[in-house]
Amino acid sequence: MYRFKPSYALKARSVSDYPAKCTQAAAIMLMVENNLDPAVAQHPEELITYGGNGAVFQNWAQYLLSMKYLSEMENDQTLHLYSGHPMGLFPSSAEAPRVVVTNGMMIPNYSKPDDWEKFNALGVTQYGQMTAGSFMYIGPQGIVHGTTITVMNAFRKVLTKGETSKGKIFLTAGLGGMSGAQPKAGNIANCITVCAEVNANAATKRHQQGWVDELIDNMDELVTRVKEAQAAEEVVSIAYIGNIVDVWESFFEQEIFIHLGSDQTSLHNPWSGGYYPVDVSYEESNRLIREEPEVFKVKVQETLRRHADAVNKHTARGTYFFDYGNAFLLEASRAGGDVMAENGIDFKYPSYVQDILGPMCFDYGFGPFRWVCASGKSEDLDKTDAIAASVLEKLMQESPEEIQQQMQDNITWIKDAKQNNLVVGSQARILYADAQGRMEIAKAFNDAINSGEIGPVVLGRDHHDVSGTDSPYRETSNIYDGSRFTADMAIHNVIGDSFRGATWVSIHNGGGVGWGEVTNGGFGMLLDGTADAERKLKSMLLFDVNNGIARRSWARNSEANFAIKREMARTPKLKVTLANLVDDDILNNLSL
Ligand SMILES: NC(=O)c1ccc[n+]([C@@H]2O[C@H](COP(=O)([O-])OP(=O)(O)OC[C@H]3O[C@@H](n4cnc5c(N)ncnc54)[C@H](O)[C@@H]3O)[C@@H](O)[C@H]2O)c1
Repeated sequence: MYRFKPSYALKARSVSDYPAKCTQAAAIMLMVENNLDPAVAQHPEELITYGGNGAVFQNWAQYLLSMKYLSEMENDQTLHLYSGHPMGLFPSSAEAPRVVVTNGMMIPNYSKPDDWEKFNALGVTQYGQMTAGSFMYIGPQGIVHGTTITVMNAFRKVLTKGETSKGKIFLTAGLGGMSGAQPKAGNIANCITVCAEVNANAATKRHQQGWVDELIDNMDELVTRVKEAQAAEEVVSIAYIGNIVDVWESFFEQEIFIHLGSDQTSLHNPWSGGYYPVDVSYEESNRLIREEPEVFKVKVQETLRRHADAVNKHTARGTYFFDYGNAFLLEASRAGGDVMAENGIDFKYPSYVQDILGPMCFDYGFGPFRWVCASGKSEDLDKTDAIAASVLEKLMQESPEEIQQQMQDNITWIKDAKQNNLVVGSQARILYADAQGRMEIAKAFNDAINSGEIGPVVLGRDHHDVSGTDSPYRETSNIYDGSRFTADMAIHNVIGDSFRGATWVSIHNGGGVGWGEVTNGGFGMLLDGTADAERKLKSMLLFDVNNGIARRSWARNSEANFAIKREMARTPKLKVTLANLVDDDILNNLSL
């Protein structure tokens, strides 16, 4: 199928440059091409955008056919894509989505990792990750913003009122695809980031890209440099070329206090190079993986036990440690590491969603809203940044205390966004906002398009959000009523968005944590300045966020309960079933 790879450059062009009969289809072509741009995609030849095997299409014939259908499509037709395969254009209506995407949808009993290998090889399914197969990837700024929000809020959990993160240490590992965002986020969050990376090439690449300030490959030098940075309350990010376990152990001996600790090695893939053992060189580890995999596995498990012990010594001194969704606690527990809580069921440490993103963001509706200026003009992006900042500033004046901090963080982010210089590919921006924020920003964009101030805008979001993703160990890990193993929310989300005005919708198996482990969905919506666009954005964004808040509130998450009551007061036609809380004493004292 490589012979069908087009000879023209793959990149997001201006929406007006596409040979299409309707602007909605042209906007989707722009987003597809952006996901395949060699400057954006990890393995563009293989149509893989990010996340190991996150595919846009299975092959180039599917790409070509889909682009042809999009160029012929009129605004009363819908293209149905089955895991990249264009089943065809079907008559629909102007109200319907132009494209419906499914990726990796399986009969549940056939959704194990080995099943993916088999059915992908047969060419009948693909792994769409989250924003790869839904044409909504916007390069590294998405992950930088999410990581910044996480680090800033983690500091808030540990600092006393009035204390700042200056001179405080965030210790973590990994300078790869997503983990490489950590030092950049640490700098934005104003702390000292120490990030260990065993692969010297990966560390050097991040240094050259300006994502980490300093490279150090000697432990004594690292200890001296970190003590100096602490004393001077510097904001600096340091890559240590070496094993993370050595850093945890040395910092303990040297009595260096770590405020925040985490880990972003690729422990979802522990036996094939996702996590490197301590006291074995990088080259020797790679030889062991190839020639003596069983020896490698034993060394990884020994290291995980040592890693857990070193973390435990620091947390006993007061370090706040969280799992960054990379299966560190899971693999450490499987290796016999001391990471289980006293009840023998839970882990000792929380995940980043349980403690931070869940209660502080998702439950209030804050999530990774994003937009792309379809004109391709950077001036349009500047104008949308300014519009979004002024909408948020206005909203903040009336915001309740509970969400003031999130509003302020996002105002700061959007004001600094241009200078953080994170645009790669399309003219895109990410901004965490709640339902009201997303709706008001979108309406202000639509007004600006109507008055000719800016060109059309595509709205979307990461699937890793309030409502889009059911993932029991990640996005929905802070749901404790037993429903975190269900996927009704993600399914309702995609169906609900599709009849409220989305330009395209998508629903995927896998994404982030792997095939069979998660169901995640999203949407894209073109704003063209019309009254129709305004009606659709109001209807769809209200549902897109509040579907998830309602479910989180039904699970008795107090922040979500607060948010949904507030939304019902603002939106009389919204009537959500609320939980009646039972006094724990009554339950605990029931005689059976
Ligand atoms: N950033 C996020 O918001 C986020 C969210 C959820 C999950 N994750 C998870 O984070 C993990 C990392 O993702 P990625 O895309 O960066 O993966 P990656 O494989 O590109 O990078 C991981 C890096 O860790 C390094 N490493 C491995 N073992 C090490 C050790 N013992 N000491 C020091 N360095 C070591 C590797 O050399 C590699 O460069 C994945 O499991 C991913 O699912 C990230």
